[in-house]
Amino acid sequence: MNIKFKLIQYIIVIIMFMACTDNHNEKTITYSKIDSINEKVDSLIKIMTLKEKIGQMNQYNGFWDVTGPVPDNGDAEIKYEHLKNGLVGSMLSVRGTKAVRAVQKIAIEESRLGIPLIIGFDVIHGYKTLSPIPLAEAASWDLEAIEKSAQVAAAEASAAGINWTFAPMVDISRDPRWGRVMEGAGEDPFLGSKIAVARVKGFQGDDLSAVNTIAACAKHFAAYGFSEAGKEYNTVDIGNSTLHNIVLPPFKAAVNADVKTLMNAFNEHDGVPATGNEYLLRNILKDKWDFKGFVITDWASIKEMVVWGYTKDKRDAAKMAALAGSDMDMESHIYVSELEQLVKDGVIDEKIIDEAASRILAVKFELGLFDDPYRYCDEAREKEVVNNPEHLDAVLDMAKKSIVLLKNENDLLPLKKEGQNIVLIGALANEKNSPLGSWRIASKDNTGVSVLEGMQNYKGNNLVYKKGADVTVGDTQFVDELTINTTDKSEFKDAIDAAKKADVVVMVLGEHGFQSGEARSRTDIDLPGVQQELLEEVYKINKNIVLVLNNGRPLSITWADKHIPAILETWQLGTQAGHAVAQVLYGDYNPSGKLPMTFPRNVGQIPIYYNHKNTGRPVRDAYNPDLVFWSHYSDVENTPLYPFGYGLSYTTFKYENLALEKTVFSINENINLSIDITNTGKMTGKEVVQLYIRDLVASTTRPVKELKGFELIELQVGETKTVNFVLNKASLGFYSNQGDFITEPGEFEIFVGGNSNTTLNTRFELK
Ligand code: BGC
Repeated sequence: MNIKFKLIQYIIVIIMFMACTDNHNEKTITYSKIDSINEKVDSLIKIMTLKEKIGQMNQYNGFWDVTGPVPDNGDAEIKYEHLKNGLVGSMLSVRGTKAVRAVQKIAIEESRLGIPLIIGFDVIHGYKTLSPIPLAEAASWDLEAIEKSAQVAAAEASAAGINWTFAPMVDISRDPRWGRVMEGAGEDPFLGSKIAVARVKGFQGDDLSAVNTIAACAKHFAAYGFSEAGKEYNTVDIGNSTLHNIVLPPFKAAVNADVKTLMNAFNEHDGVPATGNEYLLRNILKDKWDFKGFVITDWASIKEMVVWGYTKDKRDAAKMAALAGSDMDMESHIYVSELEQLVKDGVIDEKIIDEAASRILAVKFELGLFDDPYRYCDEAREKEVVNNPEHLDAVLDMAKKSIVLLKNENDLLPLKKEGQNIVLIGALANEKNSPLGSWRIASKDNTGVSVLEGMQNYKGNNLVYKKGADVTVGDTQFVDELTINTTDKSEFKDAIDAAKKADVVVMVLGEHGFQSGEARSRTDIDLPGVQQELLEEVYKINKNIVLVLNNGRPLSITWADKHIPAILETWQLGTQAGHAVAQVLYGDYNPSGKLPMTFPRNVGQIPIYYNHKNTGRPVRDAYNPDLVFWSHYSDVENTPLYPFGYGLSYTTFKYENLALEKTVFSINENINLSIDITNTGKMTGKEVVQLYIRDLVASTTRPVKELKGFELIELQVGETKTVNFVLNKASLGFYSNQGDFITEPGEFEIFVGGNSNTTLNTRFELK
């Protein structure tokens, strides 16, 4: 440890020592021996200048390479000066032990107090070894596996110098047009909350100071997933009931799980940008929920408040963001330029700065950065951990669990392992880049296993590959997708000719990995480009088609559902994608995934979600069946193509004996219920048993169904298991429009089954 670092510890010890009123004369006490993090933080804050405290609130994007500053909008030199002067508290997107060590060294050795930087990065679904995109992982409903996946990501990222991830994204969304649904857990607040907790636990572990854990960040606070019309960065306009019951619960669950940071959002809520939203950040998050960590803004979102027309200039924006409770400024460069003067002018109380800086320093202490700022910069560990072969097994396991079987007529799947002529079609079948999905910034391009490679492991069949058509005309990472879907059909014929002779045709179609993600909103969620046409052409000459979907959002595949006998939803499954798909196609793994988001029949049905309200006219009038005045469309039915929670298996399950111990319960009683599930098919399989409730009458209208429990079970052929669920006051309550949690007496309906469409039900009364 260098001399400066020791010196600051010593200064703090002296201050602590002087502050003590007892006879403490332990001169040899070291700073690290002060037990409470709050005391450490307070003592450090006391010796910091106002500028240095504001510096902690400033985060810059990586402008630092191993060898020095790199051009970053031309201001790398200024940023470097700030770093040396203790005016930078964090950097994002610097990665690799060498680069992180280089930048940390400047903060430690050249700034006056040598306060370590916290190093953030978007470790969204893995660092170099990639697991499936988060929406896919959510389809596993396997909380243990999801936690393990985050653990692997944390292990690799922390070995590469990173100690903070901007994940999990816990935004609930009902709109597949929004490209970022790939990054979340889907449409449901109950499932979303469970997954938020699993991910936070996976990243942060039990001990944040352990070298293989990193701080998590629940984002984007709040309501970003409700951008109007699914258009990226658009206005949000939701009511209080949706805010409290749908949007906020996963954030609250993450806070209860001790998530260390939150990121605010690009959108506004009720006319106030989230970055400057005192109601969300102070009243709810910091006061009501007692959140102790810190809030980072989203990229340049302080600056954007001027563009929104919410603040007149940078100074005003800094004031509103800081007062609202945004603690760290990501890349607006505004706190560092404006806050000092605002404090000097008496517009902002220095206490606000102290509070923000203290929250940030506390997380740095918890990470152990003050004990050893280079603890995440061990090159030997980096070599050993990043891309460790064991991680390949872990992400393969997660990938298989994420696959959802949507249709399987006449048991076309699993494929026979021998004696078949199989023709594989689609550019995505031969893709090693697309399966990595969006947000794979640290991984190398083309490091995913393609479906073709995965299927080539099964040698008993004759496998022929034909591209048929591309999806896009180029790499779409930084280009607008709308301009580059291919129209080229020149390779159709080759594919169709091959398909004529096939026993089974496997077609891998869907979105390229860069067609979902941030700034990838679409108004049309059909198969992009000429793929639908290719599918229909091949179908004309061979109906034995297995459609393997690749996508980062629900797609509308109504034609395919009607005609294609087998459909497998495989999302973007990360590094091991092709192996996972092949193992499911050949029946070495029996799929058990369930959709975390509703699939619409067409884009016009959006937003369509299972936990909708009943309306006053939910069905056709039984007495006047000719009347049109009920809640419906004239051109398409109300039901979705595939409901939330839906997914098949190669085996079948029977649900029976839904039993409640009684029918009337007092409000403080536990409500125990049980259900028997039997594997009635021909293969061992897993099933996600789902429990939904409906509160029949309440002081604000309640959804027609709400998920309140689920359990993933495995059953041998013929085996029956009894699954028990417990409901209580907490599971039966909801948030009022004032944000108060209430449980009201009255009648409830309970539904249990294998998806949200289940009708197996019973009722009870809460007194
Ligand atoms: C995204 C955040 C992300 C940040 C840093 C923003 O554009 O909205 O989710 O963490 O960039 O990369």
